[in-house]
Amino acid sequence: MEQTADIALIGLAVMGQNLIMNMNDHGFTVVAYNRTTSKVDEFLSTTAKGSKVIGAHSIEEMVKLLKRPRKIMLMVKAGKPVDEFIEALLPHLEPGDLIIDGGNSHFPDTIRRAKYLESQGFLFIGTGVSGGEEGARFGPSMMPGGTPAAWPLVKDIFQSIAAKTPEGEPCCDWVGTDGAGHYVKMTHNGIEYGDMQLICEAYQLMKEGLGMSNEEMHDAFVEWNKGELDSYLIEITRDILAYKDPATGEQTLDKILDTAGQKGTGKWTSVSSLDLGMPVTLIGEAVYARCLSAMKDDRVRASKILSGPKIKIAGDKKAFVEDIRQALLASKIVSYAQGFMLLAEAAKEYKWDLNYGSIAMMWREGCIIRSVFLGKIKAAYEADPKLANLLLADYFNGLLKRCQDSWRRAVSQAVLNGIPVPAFTTALAFYDGYRSERLPANLLQAQRDYFGAHTYERIDQPRGKFFHTNWTGKGGNISAGQYTV
Ligand code: 6PG
Repeated sequence: MEQTADIALIGLAVMGQNLIMNMNDHGFTVVAYNRTTSKVDEFLSTTAKGSKVIGAHSIEEMVKLLKRPRKIMLMVKAGKPVDEFIEALLPHLEPGDLIIDGGNSHFPDTIRRAKYLESQGFLFIGTGVSGGEEGARFGPSMMPGGTPAAWPLVKDIFQSIAAKTPEGEPCCDWVGTDGAGHYVKMTHNGIEYGDMQLICEAYQLMKEGLGMSNEEMHDAFVEWNKGELDSYLIEITRDILAYKDPATGEQTLDKILDTAGQKGTGKWTSVSSLDLGMPVTLIGEAVYARCLSAMKDDRVRASKILSGPKIKIAGDKKAFVEDIRQALLASKIVSYAQGFMLLAEAAKEYKWDLNYGSIAMMWREGCIIRSVFLGKIKAAYEADPKLANLLLADYFNGLLKRCQDSWRRAVSQAVLNGIPVPAFTTALAFYDGYRSERLPANLLQAQRDYFGAHTYERIDQPRGKFFHTNWTGKGGNISAGQYTV
């Protein structure tokens, strides 16, 4: 058997098949393998017919077809199947060979797998792949991390098949060691949750607050997609609002039950933000909004019992639509600032050397959150790689100044009219908190010290010196130990 293939791919579900065809189109010879081998034959006789793709019916056969060092990419369900395939592959590989996990794996698993494989002389990459079926076929965003020595082995393949920015740069670059790639992909998904929630809140304000029809909202999204909000998610929302069932002529959107699903990557982002002590509030609200939406029966019951204001947003409709657009833009800036704060903290915690401009570039095209906006983030980090916070970059600070009045009006109207806008609201609260020199945490520290002798620092003493007050005269002077999570 000739060792001619550049890479093998295991897992012939739609993402796997499309990645193989994408690699094939770019001149690479791919071996396709699937646990249920009938899928291999089916793939070769349909989608891959006439291509250079080679089929394998066993791991042994697949491995023998590969050039050395061997490169094997897994496109299988995250979790146990990844570990099972790694174990099944190892007896057929030799040190220096590379296993790539292209699924939505949880980053702690990727860290564990990288350590395990590296300890035996193998190379490992955990890569985020975003953009759905279409992206996989014609240009995904790819976020690879793992064993640094593995990158030169796949750089050419990955960067060839990846989406390209308008400037022609591939939306794929090395992210960092062990779980860095999957961490960045997880954060991408968290931001995706945030963007989607913000758009849903804009939709609800227009629909419930202004009584706009789907056609009118479609027209608004057509306009929005021409400016600063130009993005894939605005574009698909525009199209969803215009879509009519060809058979019935009904507006499909209006027939969809209002309960959201989720597979967990948004939750992982929120859990990680809590673990790292980073206030990534907008993604958290976006996850909770999905949870609340899923409590449909409870909401139906409560809607008949709990009262609220009668909705009445008076005034110029067009002007309020513009307020909503600016509220969306400002909230989006906060969400991305929070996402990059999380990445920076994770980089410290897990010792990754993350390049934020490069991450923005990887998200610029190909992925679900692709947008013109990400081009501005890339530019901000390129202008100042040490930027402390995206909110402080001139471009975003300028936008926030410009959008602020509209943002506050949109949130106020929503609150006054009883329309829930958790993501708009939390973004504004974060913005006001972040720009506050003084917050009421002095009182909070006093309370902690009062009931538990947890001590506090003083404004007139150096940081790191702790004090306790005997608030009641009864507690004594013993204070609790110092630790902060
Ligand atoms: C992507 C997406 C994808 C994710 C879906 C579904 O980058 O192509 O993020 O990885 O699986 O968006 O996610 P939820 O089911 O959690 O909404």
